[in-house]
Amino acid sequence: MTQVIVALDVDSIKKQEDLLKSLHGTIVWYKVGLQLFTAHGKRAVDIVRRHGGKVFLDLKLHDIPQTVAHAVREAQRLGVDAVSLHLMGGADMLRAAAEVMPRPKLWGVTILTSMAPKDVKIFSPSAKIPSLVKSLSKQGWVGGADATICSPQEVGMLKKAFPHLDMKFVTPGIRPKGAALNDQNRVMTPGEAAKLGIDFIVVGRPITHAPDPRKAALDILAEMKAAAPKALDKE
Ligand code: C5P
Repeated sequence: MTQVIVALDVDSIKKQEDLLKSLHGTIVWYKVGLQLFTAHGKRAVDIVRRHGGKVFLDLKLHDIPQTVAHAVREAQRLGVDAVSLHLMGGADMLRAAAEVMPRPKLWGVTILTSMAPKDVKIFSPSAKIPSLVKSLSKQGWVGGADATICSPQEVGMLKKAFPHLDMKFVTPGIRPKGAALNDQNRVMTPGEAAKLGIDFIVVGRPITHAPDPRKAALDILAEMKAAAPKALDKE
């Protein structure tokens, strides 16, 4: 089952509300990220919830274990459904976060897709992105992360590397056929993502910048359904 998370990358509550109204009944999940949360904090989360949506709070937590655990507890108090953290923060950090109960789902970032092969050489001259993504996602699974956030291009490799682990995947970098790439490079279409069995796709501008966001969302859902008829079961 593949679900769409709309990234509410906007700078005002008015724009956020307009999008929520327009997408009502089509999209359940919304991402509140660094921009909106830094600008409007709890209010931005409350508005999504008031509209009946689920919140993915994409703050990419990365700090000492106690600080991250406390932030996860506060995210639970905010009422969000999922929060992201960097798997680079280490096994102890992840364990501390996972031990918070009750807590939102923990979605672990492997290597940011904006990082280039040269950027990981700082860890070791032989460091390679795919093997780091592999070991971080395994560490995430073992440590209690509920899903791996990675490039859609990496999902096939991870499923093959860990065929017996029931890993879940959350991927940005999704572009319907013919849509503007913006600053995304290695993209995948919603249909391909659904076929691959990706659990959540994060879609921003193809919906939020569309002249008719509702139509854009419905088109994406239709493309996914056509590509993988079983991929869109309702929760
Ligand atoms: O507008 P677009 O569909 O590119 O938005 C994708 C969302 O996913 C944005 O909120 C962006 O910050 C986020 N993201 C990404 N690439 C990553 C990680 C997160 O595009 N590697």
